[in-house]
Amino acid sequence: MNKRRQNLVELAYKHLPRNYAPPDDFVLEKGSGCYLKDVNGNMHLDMLACYSAANAGYGNIAVIRAIQKQIAKGLVCNANCFWEEQKILFARDLAEFCSNFGLSGFDIVLPMNSGAEAVETALKIARKWGYLRKNIAADKAEIICCENNFHGRTLSAISMSTVAQYKNHFGPLIPGIKTIPFADIAALNAAINTNTAAFLVEPVQGEGGVIIPPSGYLAEVRRICNKSNVLFVLDEIQSGFGRTGKMFACNYDGVSPDMIILGKALGGGLPISAVVGRPEIMDVLKPGDHGSTFGGNPLSCAAARASLRFMRRYRPDRRAAELGFYFKNKLKGIAAKSPHIKEVRIIGLWVGIEVHSTSPRAHSFCELLYKEGILCKETRKYTIRMSPPLTISRKELDFALEKIQKVFT
Ligand SMILES: Cc1ncc(COP(=O)(O)O)c(C=O)c1O
Repeated sequence: MNKRRQNLVELAYKHLPRNYAPPDDFVLEKGSGCYLKDVNGNMHLDMLACYSAANAGYGNIAVIRAIQKQIAKGLVCNANCFWEEQKILFARDLAEFCSNFGLSGFDIVLPMNSGAEAVETALKIARKWGYLRKNIAADKAEIICCENNFHGRTLSAISMSTVAQYKNHFGPLIPGIKTIPFADIAALNAAINTNTAAFLVEPVQGEGGVIIPPSGYLAEVRRICNKSNVLFVLDEIQSGFGRTGKMFACNYDGVSPDMIILGKALGGGLPISAVVGRPEIMDVLKPGDHGSTFGGNPLSCAAARASLRFMRRYRPDRRAAELGFYFKNKLKGIAAKSPHIKEVRIIGLWVGIEVHSTSPRAHSFCELLYKEGILCKETRKYTIRMSPPLTISRKELDFALEKIQKVFT
């Protein structure tokens, strides 16, 4: 019965590097809504949604149809040196979407493939803006970022990381990075100097353990960046598109950054990311300055357009707010009875359950949840992170709650 799984796991050990350590108990094969089916036919309720890339659920019909339609056209890749319809329409649709949700004037959309690639892109734009518009001396531009951040795994992204494992043995790292504590306005003020090009920050630190800053933090960041002529670059790769209960997390403070970095849920499950900003900043890039073979490919753009249409109609932000409120109250009840749970942090449908340092590590709780048919993932040593598809129903959340209660109490 387990032969197929066993064969696949053996092949995985033979041919895949060990940069991930998935459990060997199941190998996934199919997806439908909030459920994933493994090769042995077992169903798992997905409370991770591919770190928010699957917010629209698996097999979302709107996205699937758009993909099929584009495949039928025979054009799934395009050299970016030629105009192509889906990329142009994607840029228009995303700019309109941003405008509808508080980011007005964000007219320039630069598509990339992964989140980290979009972060790299934003850093390049910020540095060039610093040299051209702020007259920073050659090669002196500085980027300020936050301790405990996560901006991806490329060299620039890990140069900003404060997690030793992400950096050790990967040096030399890129220079020009300053790190300050998260949600610390005084530290931001103190770190800025004439060479500061940008402040890059996540509105909620997802990989960092679902760390939610006090209300008003981003508004203060906006004020300081304005005052000091520093670009405010917001990484909403994980927080964007409804996860926090608002379409963009910066909507909570009613502010917009100078550039926003989007990814994950944008493509409805397909890889696509984007840096979006106002023309007066984005126009520092000239032909030949930057590019990516697959960035803005027709297939991902078609999927992203369907995903944007879906989100406009379905309003995942409202669902996350409503269901998140429900989930929060129930979880707090479980936490009160649990000898293990130290704290529950939740914003929208984004949950961090932190366990005591004297309890088993977060990973052990995830393993127990896997056995109960619930998929989630620890982040750092002591936090179990949950971010289900935003199409999840209350009944499915109740099922998850029943299993969470069993494992933690
Ligand atoms: C806030 C944030 N930025 C950047 C990234 C990197 O995205 P990707 O894995 O698509 O490169 C992630 C991924 O988890 C993220 O959460």
